[in-house]
Amino acid sequence: MMACKCLATLSKRHWADFILLKDVNVGKFNIHIFQLSNLQSKIMTQSLDRNKLSQLLKNEEQLFHKNHPKSYELYQRARKSLHGGVPMLWMIRWAGSFPVFVKEAKGARFTDVDGNSYIDLCLGDTGAMTGHAPDATVKAIKEQIEKGITLMLPYEDVIWVGEELQRRFGLPYWQFALTATDANRFALRMARLITGRPKILVFNYCYHGTVDETFITLDEEGTPISRPNNMGPQVNPIYTTKVIEFNDVAALETALSAGDVAAVLAEPVMTNIGIIHPDAGYHDALREITRRTGTLLIIDETHTICTGPGGYTASHRLQPDFLTLGKPLAGGVPAAIYGFTEEVSRAFNEKLSLEDSDVGGIGGTLAGNALSIAAMKATLQHVLTDEFYSKATALQERFTQGVESVISEFDLPWIVKRLGNRSEYWFRPAPPKNGGEAHAAIDAELDRYMHLYTLNRGILMTPFHNMALISPETTQADVDYHTKIFKEAVHSLFG
Ligand SMILES: Cc1ncc(COP(=O)(O)O)c(C=O)c1O
Repeated sequence: MMACKCLATLSKRHWADFILLKDVNVGKFNIHIFQLSNLQSKIMTQSLDRNKLSQLLKNEEQLFHKNHPKSYELYQRARKSLHGGVPMLWMIRWAGSFPVFVKEAKGARFTDVDGNSYIDLCLGDTGAMTGHAPDATVKAIKEQIEKGITLMLPYEDVIWVGEELQRRFGLPYWQFALTATDANRFALRMARLITGRPKILVFNYCYHGTVDETFITLDEEGTPISRPNNMGPQVNPIYTTKVIEFNDVAALETALSAGDVAAVLAEPVMTNIGIIHPDAGYHDALREITRRTGTLLIIDETHTICTGPGGYTASHRLQPDFLTLGKPLAGGVPAAIYGFTEEVSRAFNEKLSLEDSDVGGIGGTLAGNALSIAAMKATLQHVLTDEFYSKATALQERFTQGVESVISEFDLPWIVKRLGNRSEYWFRPAPPKNGGEAHAAIDAELDRYMHLYTLNRGILMTPFHNMALISPETTQADVDYHTKIFKEAVHSLFG
């Protein structure tokens, strides 16, 4: 809400975006209280012609169809054996009206079955942040594959990986999983076992993989509810989970004061509802309150590993009880890790019955398999290096500057947010402070158009927001090409 005085600074065409809530008498003044009806996206729509957008989107869909006849043919065939015509249902949520079938991928590029070539700024939503099929990882995979793939016994190389993880993240003990989802699930189980507490706490619009307890959100009144798309939960997450907005210290204090929360599961910077940075001092408060209330802190670095070789934890000297990470760790081969402190390790050992450890809820026959360990070692040793990060981050800066120059040229109330080697544009004038604000600013139709426009011109952005992940294999020319295409897209809407 805001008082009308501030509105005077806005141009007249914005007035329709305010809902008069009430008039309040303060002394001799009659103050009009307005609600900003999702101001950010509305300000943008003042000059965005929605009919034009719909028509432009239709044109792009036709163009997509025309340029992808083989993908279309394969999709029709796939529908006869795969549910939805895809191996994972959300693969049909991409901007095209059917999925692009890939022929091959290397570095920051891939080609599709129709012979179209793309600059890949999605990079498997971080799974291929290293660039596709990095040489060092491929070499290690080829060598290992001849020497055994999975055994349920360790090879010596796994110790190198454990020691390297200690060095990067500062936590002494490590375990392996196949996906970041599993790493989070296992850390949560350990936290509940150690503390004897039933609940966990997450932030509104977080995503930590398909971890059942995390599919919770706040409704308009701020009441926790199961997320609307939560498919067949075994238990309504309102019974397992507390949910609050990110950056709200008072809410955190209240939620943890009851002493029934085993762990807070958090990305250090939210990335799955757009990039939301922590306020200054927020991580100190999070750590102090979790410690004081006996709550364990799990930092999920699966996406924020984009900020440096030791993730946000190392670069910002965070002190989590657990750290989880998956996706790019083994150059795209399924592999994940979770690490924890000496205290956690000791407390866990005290509660653990070794006889039950194989069927106690923490497992995965293929976890720690020889192939993924070999891939992890090579990726950590030769790919996700300091040089990787300095190159990729410099390219991200160029990307951000390019997009910002277009936004400023067209005088749009949009922003670009950045984190390490990721960068994304948002159709609102100020950065959201939390997931609720970010979610309210989503413009699905505009997102779709921007994605499809770039896709049709050979650039793959990350769904389902306008995010670009940049690898050192991306070139300056790729980044500049994106700026050119972004400008054309903006011109088609506002020119
Ligand atoms: C922060 C975060 N943690 C965990 C996961 C789960 O990763 P996976 O799907 O590989 O298990 C994701 C997936 O997007 C994620 O963004």
